[in-house]
Amino acid sequence: MTDKKDELSAQAAEQISNLIRKNKSVNLGLPTGNTPLLMYQHLVKLSEQNDLDWSHVHCFALDEYLDSPPEHSFQTYLESNLYDKVGVPKANQHNPATTDNYDSIIKEHGGLNLTILGIGLNGHIAFNEPGTPQLSFTQCIWLQDTSRKALSKTFGSLEATPITAVTMGISTILASQTIVMLAFGADKKQIVEKAFANGVDPNVPASYLKLHGTVSVLTDTQ
Ligand code: PGA
Repeated sequence: MTDKKDELSAQAAEQISNLIRKNKSVNLGLPTGNTPLLMYQHLVKLSEQNDLDWSHVHCFALDEYLDSPPEHSFQTYLESNLYDKVGVPKANQHNPATTDNYDSIIKEHGGLNLTILGIGLNGHIAFNEPGTPQLSFTQCIWLQDTSRKALSKTFGSLEATPITAVTMGISTILASQTIVMLAFGADKKQIVEKAFANGVDPNVPASYLKLHGTVSVLTDTQ
């Protein structure tokens, strides 16, 4: 782990913590995967230090597998890395695989205030794979080979890796007031450059973030 990764993970955690301190009833879009693990560790510590009140915070997972054993589900990940540690009420733990009309539910709660994203090696954000149109809402998708290969480390083999998932769409993400993208490690350097160097390209879904006015990219790849 680089010092820079630790520093940027702490910075993202602080942004979440400060938001909750200012406004008890914020709505967060939350990622899973390797990238945000350190951010969640910092957030749990900050939550203890600042005695954060999570009782009115609504957490919306960015995505979820449709064919994963429960122990690898993103709900389980968020429970063990955040929800159970800081005390997010069950009713405030939203998951697109178990909630119908995810976009309407987000809207009914007042919209996402802050969404944290990772980036896939193929440029996906949440599970919006290359080719996803800008006008896309929460939907079921087929995972592409690049994504499945990267995920197979968790599942032990490619055969055991999920094929289908449900994800917030590009429009869902772009409607968030503020977006923070985390990208760590040398293997993410090329795709981060590709996403932000040129114009918007549906084949690099992270490039849609250029259409949003308030995106921070926290990366140690530069
Ligand atoms: P990772 O996944 O954090 O495990 O690299 C990122 C992503 O697919 O969004």
